[in-house]
Amino acid sequence: MDPRPVLVVGASGQLGTRIVQQLAAAGRPVRAMVRPTSMHAHLRRPGVELVEADLMRPETLGAACRGAGAVIATANAVAPTHGSSFDAVDDRGYVDLMRACANHHCGRFVLVSVPVTAHDDAVPLFRTKRLIERRLADSGLEHAVLRAGPFMDDWFALIGSALPTRGDAAPLVARRWPFLQRFVGATGQLIDRHGIALVPGHAATRHAFIAIEDVAAALIAAVDHPVLQNATRDLAGPAMLSWGEVAALFAEVLGRPVRVLGVPGAVFRLQQRLMQPFSTAAANIMGLNWLAATTLPVAQDGTLKLLGISPVDARRFLQSKAALAA
Ligand SMILES: NC(=O)c1ccc[n+]([C@@H]2O[C@H](COP(=O)([O-])OP(=O)(O)OC[C@H]3O[C@@H](n4cnc5c(N)ncnc54)[C@H](OP(=O)(O)O)[C@@H]3O)[C@@H](O)[C@H]2O)c1
Repeated sequence: MDPRPVLVVGASGQLGTRIVQQLAAAGRPVRAMVRPTSMHAHLRRPGVELVEADLMRPETLGAACRGAGAVIATANAVAPTHGSSFDAVDDRGYVDLMRACANHHCGRFVLVSVPVTAHDDAVPLFRTKRLIERRLADSGLEHAVLRAGPFMDDWFALIGSALPTRGDAAPLVARRWPFLQRFVGATGQLIDRHGIALVPGHAATRHAFIAIEDVAAALIAAVDHPVLQNATRDLAGPAMLSWGEVAALFAEVLGRPVRVLGVPGAVFRLQQRLMQPFSTAAANIMGLNWLAATTLPVAQDGTLKLLGISPVDARRFLQSKAALAA
């Protein structure tokens, strides 16, 4: 194993934090890239080197990349703070990051991406992920790309519960982006307080939900796995679950009924169009919900098994959260 540190770009995020924690717990040297404004106190632990850099300030990236044996990149501007935007972070920022990685001969560049849909161009996050993937393939850098299904930790929270965020040091829903905070303030506990799961699409819409701890483990395994050298693979959770089945699991774990209230995809698409002139980031959130109103195509091709990971299923995920203090 390469003794050089693994650089985590996006280390203060929800997934990034889990990657740092898992690398440190495994005794692997890890360099966590944070911004001066990042909430990162929880990352301070033995074995974790903190480096300050910003994808919007290319001159800072050399110091982050120098001496890195591999890079795992999760940074994104879905819930933007401190001036981040898709253009600045996911587009130009990743170009600058790849250049710095090439200049400093970093090892494999591991990217977390999203599934390919027929509408990628219509939603900023999906559009920029495709752009990064293409640039990475053309960059000459050794790389691995994992296109993950929807995260249980995020989507199970966004449909109306605080349960999935228990024990999480950096949940997405806590990011200080006013639009997100208003949304979470209005709907964040609909399941917990009223037994209503507010979902994009129908109760029958299915997704390959995956737990963040499994995504983190897969990205770490992708650093060294020979089959993933310059490969792109889908990363599906253990089962295709409908929103109705997710609501039934909440009901089982909470011990009271939970019903699904579906919002048609067309409503999100309309909101995306209305918000676009005012906020690309808010429009992106609506676009993500529009895409999630139909099943996201994630191949069930055994990537987790290939990487030696036994995934957490949704029941165990919720049960383990319920066992933690609120
Ligand atoms: N949620 C899903 O269902 C899903 C599914 C498939 C793939 N994914 C992908 O998985 C990843 C999720 O990562 P996550 O949960 O860690 O995201 P997150 O919680 O939203 O965190 C975003 C991270 O990006 C960093 N960042 C933003 N602007 C930056 C800049 N200018 N320079 C450097 N870093 C910057 C943030 O740093 P600050 O703290 O300083 O802002 C933070 O560390 C994303 O790439 C997403 O596209 C998600």
